[in-house]
Amino acid sequence: MKKTLALLLSVLMLVTLLAACGGDKPTDDPADGDQQQTEEPTTPDTTEPTEPEAPAAGGTIGVCIYQFTDAFMTTYRNSLQEILEGKGYQVSTVDGANDQAKQNEQINSFITQGVDALIINPVMTSAADQIIATVQAAGIPTVLINREPTAEQMAVYDKLVYVGCDARQSGTMQGELILDTPNKGDINGDGKISYIMVQGDPENVDAQYRTEFSVKALVDAGMEVEELNLTRGDWMRERGQEIVANDLAQFGSQVEVVFCNNDDMAIGALQSIQAAGRKVNEDIYLVGVDALDAALNEVQAGNMTGTVLNDAVGQATAAVEQMELLLGGKTYASGEQSVYVDYVKVTPDNVGDFMK
Ligand code: BGC
Repeated sequence: MKKTLALLLSVLMLVTLLAACGGDKPTDDPADGDQQQTEEPTTPDTTEPTEPEAPAAGGTIGVCIYQFTDAFMTTYRNSLQEILEGKGYQVSTVDGANDQAKQNEQINSFITQGVDALIINPVMTSAADQIIATVQAAGIPTVLINREPTAEQMAVYDKLVYVGCDARQSGTMQGELILDTPNKGDINGDGKISYIMVQGDPENVDAQYRTEFSVKALVDAGMEVEELNLTRGDWMRERGQEIVANDLAQFGSQVEVVFCNNDDMAIGALQSIQAAGRKVNEDIYLVGVDALDAALNEVQAGNMTGTVLNDAVGQATAAVEQMELLLGGKTYASGEQSVYVDYVKVTPDNVGDFMK
C-alpha cells in the first residue's frame, strides 16, 4: 500500500513538472516582437507583465508629411529621418501631396503594416478629429507635428501628443523686427505703418497667429497701422512673388512693410520687390519666419529685414523624444498634450549664429 502511494505521488510530481515546463504556455511573448524567435526558454517565470519598452533598434515608424514640396517641412522631415535612423529605427516617410484623403489612406496603410508609432503632420487641421479617431482605434502611439489641433480634440486619446511652436511668439517677433528699425516701420513719416500681409494657408493656426500677432505687436507699441492688403499665399514662394508683384503695382510707394507668414513666400516677395526697383531696409521692410538657408543669406546681405527661427531640428528632436516616451508607456493628461519649442529672432547682428 505504501509502495503504491509513493508511486502515485511520483507520477503526480512528474505530470506537474511537465506542465510547468511549458506544455500549455504560449511560446511567443508579445514583448519579444517578431524578430526574436528563439527556442531557448528565456527567463523561466515572468509572473509580472513588464512595462512596454521602446523598440530602440528595429522599431518601425511611419512618418506622414502634408506635402514634400514645402520648403520648411523638407528641412524638418530630413531632420526627423536622420534622428530616427541614427537611433536604429526603420523609418518610412510618405508625402500627403496636400491631399487629406491620400494622407488618410497612408495612415491606414501604416496601421495595417503594424508600425510601432506614427509621426503625423496633418494636411488639414480640420481633419484632426478623424486622424485622432483612427490612431486611437488602432492604439498606435502618435506624435502630431506642425499643425496644431485644439486641446479638446487631443484630449480624447492619451497616447497622443503635439510637438510644435507657439505661433503667437513668431508673429510678435516679426512685429518687433519692424519696431527695431530706425523709423519703426514708418518710412515715409506719415505717422502710420502701411503694410501688406502675405498669409500662409489660413487653415493652419500658424498662419492665423502670425498674421494677428505681428500687427498686434505694432499696435501694442502705440503705432498706428494701415493694412493695404492681405492675401493668402499658402506658404508657397511663387504665390509670394505673384502677390507682392500685384500689391506693389497697385499700392506702389505706399507699401512700407511686407509681412510674410513664412520665408519661402518672403523669398518670392523679395524677387518682386527687386523687380520693382525697391530696396529693402531703405524704402521697404521685409520679414519672414523659418530661417531657411536662403532667407539667412538674404538677411546677411541686407535684402531681408529679418526672420524668425522656426527650429526644425529642435522640433524634430522633441518629436522623437516624445515618441520614445509614448513607446515607453507614457500617457498624457488632457490639457498637457502640447510641447513647444521656442522661436528665435534673427537679425543681421546674430544671423551668423544660424548659418551652417
Ligand atoms: C512654416 C511654414 C510651413 C508650414 C507648413 C509653418 O510652421 O513656417 O514654412 O509652410 O508650417 O505647415
